[in-house]
Amino acid sequence: MSDAAPPARTAAVIPAAGRGVRLGPGAPKALRMLGGTPMLVHAVRAMSASRAVSLVVVVAPPDDVAGVRALLDEYPAPERTDVLVVPGGATRQESVRRGLDALPDSVTTVLVHDAARPLVPVDTVDAVVEAVRDGGAPAVVPAVPLADTVKEVEPAGDGTPEPVLGTPERARLRAVQTPQGFDRATLVRAHREITGEVTDDAGMVERLGVPVVAVPGHEEAFKVTRPLDLVLAEAVLARRRVNDGF
Ligand code: CTP
Ligand code: MG
Repeated sequence: MSDAAPPARTAAVIPAAGRGVRLGPGAPKALRMLGGTPMLVHAVRAMSASRAVSLVVVVAPPDDVAGVRALLDEYPAPERTDVLVVPGGATRQESVRRGLDALPDSVTTVLVHDAARPLVPVDTVDAVVEAVRDGGAPAVVPAVPLADTVKEVEPAGDGTPEPVLGTPERARLRAVQTPQGFDRATLVRAHREITGEVTDDAGMVERLGVPVVAVPGHEEAFKVTRPLDLVLAEAVLARRRVNDGF
């Protein structure tokens, strides 16, 4: 028997337990159809398309774990990829934590990927995995430059004019996407030690004082949030079908 360490393994955790309130009434967002296939299935395929990813943990709406399991059996992932389904929590952070709790000991690198970003290209996934494995930083985010100028305001929230407090230099800003990639131990520590609302996992790692780096993201990794995003997603799929036809 060899006493060598178990092989390094990369897993993807897919938080998919949100309702999708901003998308409007209907099924939980991850279960909405895109090009005839549930959004979650696109997201699982996007992760398992990377040869580095050998396990996908789907964090499902807590009242529909069995339904999600059945759905994923209907649309199987490639044979080299295992898929687990666990129940989510009340917040995205809580859902990700539950996904991390389900990881076997052999996993050393973790991707966290929103089910709501179903169309991320495999090259982006691979670039994030490579950047984490290269050891340059224990946390890696895919990020894109902004098209709009961004202002900081004093929020009013009721439609009245909001005082502008400043204009950060646009060239220094990035919109951050997923999958975000992590050294597993670092991400687990962040989820244990950091409390309070943080909108992404890398933000929690930053608060530990641990370095985070950004690599180029992709415009097709956009998040499906509002109804117009569904129109864009359908258009991207239609374009891919045309391109694949040649
Ligand atoms: N998410 C989750 N558990 C929650 C809330 C969100 O797993 N309690 C997941 C969503 O399913 C989604 C990702 O986190 O894949 C990003 O969240 P977001 O785009 O905000 O999705 P929702 O929270 O579902 O949408 P909304 O905020 O409009 O309700
Ligand atoms: Mg949300």
